[in-house]
Amino acid sequence: MDASPSHDDPPVGIPRTSTTPHAPDGQTACAAVPRREALAALAQRHSVGPRWLTDPAPDDADLRRAIACALRAPDHGLLRPWRAVLVGREQRRLLGDLFASIARDQGGDEAAIAREIERAERGPALVAWIARIQPGIDDVPAHEQWMTTGGALTLFLSALHLMGYGAKTLSGRKCSHPRLQAAFCTPGETLVAFITVGTPSRAAAARGCDDLDFHWQPWQPQNLGGAGPSAPH
Ligand SMILES: Cc1cc2nc3c(=O)[nH]c(=O)nc-3n(C[C@H](O)[C@H](O)[C@H](O)COP(=O)(O)O)c2cc1C
Repeated sequence: MDASPSHDDPPVGIPRTSTTPHAPDGQTACAAVPRREALAALAQRHSVGPRWLTDPAPDDADLRRAIACALRAPDHGLLRPWRAVLVGREQRRLLGDLFASIARDQGGDEAAIAREIERAERGPALVAWIARIQPGIDDVPAHEQWMTTGGALTLFLSALHLMGYGAKTLSGRKCSHPRLQAAFCTPGETLVAFITVGTPSRAAAARGCDDLDFHWQPWQPQNLGGAGPSAPH
């Protein structure tokens, strides 16, 4: 498939100057945000693969802004069931060695091992997303904590997009490998995926069509048992 952007493609990223989702300390920025513009930009968020991500990477301040937005994910019981860690540029080689050792474990040949080493080097910034799901919490079952973890990741990606960055979340088979899990997690945590972040060198493209009418419908009551529509209240 031709990877070059067409004339119909949305602009590459959103200009950094358009709006910041970050409120100054202790304030709400809502009134200042051009909401329709932000909404239109959000509706254009698509992942941008590592090979299309170039410098500059988001600096520490922008990454903190994105994490501040991630912390706005709805969170039953305020359990904060996730955290994110930055893999520094100088740590990529170490990560590459780890990826390579896992590829070896998984029976990869020399080409596969070299690919894994190269993967660890890809992309201007690399963030690991870690879930901290607590079993046995009254009223907050694990699936609700996973929802919060995914919601936080989505807000993180959305905030980066609104600041003009591109990103892609990738796990792959290796993410669940015990050695990689051990390198990032404390007991009870799960390494979910890595997010590569940078400046898009091409427009992000939608992978498919959205079927809004499937995802948003009025309730069609079913399996009501004794609670029929005419039951008196
Ligand atoms: C936790 C998580 C892990 C993912 N891992 C992979 C992966 O290993 N390989 C892959 O091709 N896509 C993976 N994806 C999907 C991509 O990140 C991306 O969402 C997908 O390509 C759809 O693109 P879009 O974000 O533009 O809709 C993962 C997504 C999530 C949320």
